[in-house]
Amino acid sequence: MLHDFATGLLRRMDPERAHRLGMTGLKLGFGPRDDAADPPVLATRLAGIGLPNPVGLAAGFDKNAEAPDALLAMGFGFVECGAVTPRAQAGKPRPRIFRLEEDEAVINRMGFPNQGLPRFRSRLAARRDRPGVVGVNLGANLDSEDRVADYVTCLEALQGLAGFFTVNVSSPNTPGLRTLQASGALDDLLEAVARVGSSVPVFLKVAPDILDEDAVVMVEAVRRHGLHGVIVSNTTITRPASLKSAYMGEGGGLSGPPVFERSTELVRVFRATAGPEMAIIGVGGVDSADTAYAKIRAGADAVQLYTGLVYHGPGLIGRIKAGLVERLQADGFASVSEAVGADLRRDSSAG
Ligand code: FNR
Repeated sequence: MLHDFATGLLRRMDPERAHRLGMTGLKLGFGPRDDAADPPVLATRLAGIGLPNPVGLAAGFDKNAEAPDALLAMGFGFVECGAVTPRAQAGKPRPRIFRLEEDEAVINRMGFPNQGLPRFRSRLAARRDRPGVVGVNLGANLDSEDRVADYVTCLEALQGLAGFFTVNVSSPNTPGLRTLQASGALDDLLEAVARVGSSVPVFLKVAPDILDEDAVVMVEAVRRHGLHGVIVSNTTITRPASLKSAYMGEGGGLSGPPVFERSTELVRVFRATAGPEMAIIGVGGVDSADTAYAKIRAGADAVQLYTGLVYHGPGLIGRIKAGLVERLQADGFASVSEAVGADLRRDSSAG
């Protein structure tokens, strides 16, 4: 309650200063805690990793792995830190985050500002034996001569320190990064990643702006190189006609409710393409139990959110979890995994 009030105050500040202040509070131990054990019905598995609940924090919030344990303590089932790049970099000039209040959305063109791999690594090493699933979002430096080598460098250096890795080729703010999603480039990248190997799952994070057909090539590449699944999706460079805020013309990636429909549709496409075995994490516009449940029914094993936290505060996590329990029970599912992809099964039995 108090923390939702604090969220209201933070929302009146410049978005990036508000975020910095929130992170400082978390690091100092002022973050909200949800100490109640999650209901067993929410416990689930993601590519073999056990999660207490399927609601995760998306990448970009804790770019430098400064407070993953405080974020887990807020009730998230898992937290993804980063994007980390080998060398520290400043990112794009400010302002570079815009709140589209009327749309409950955000546009960001951060460009991977971060303190670099060595500091990121030492923070993760310091929490090595703590419980909780903390994944790492891997990126490439803006001025990198060899982007593939950047992913490889980070992946090698962080072995043994992460619960999972994400090969992020879908952020729109590093020019050319998204071209790594094209089939030839993707193949080279994933081959290099596979050569390093990993004892924990590795996921590929995709943009919502790819074509449905692209899912086939991506699923094949993920399979061929032994990755474990996909995160669907990053922010969109499109601007839906429904947007109302004056900031809609700002460049960068749009997140929040306006990306919900497309990213959820793409979860469905990936699940239909990949079948039941591949891990899929659904991200984009999760801001309620209904939106989280819709992603699960569309085929997501777990969900992540970022923008919802900006508008609804940390109380949202508990509300989503409680609402998921109700919805699972109402639909007669004994576990989250039973509900994964339920909409596809219904569609195929109807057709
Ligand atoms: C992001 N996102 C992101 N994704 C990623 O893979 N690496 C990153 O570094 C970042 N950075 C980042 C910064 C900011 C300010 C925002 C708002 C978002 C994308 C994020 O993880 C998520 O995929 C999208 O925001 C869609 O989810 P929501 O925000 O609609 O819940």
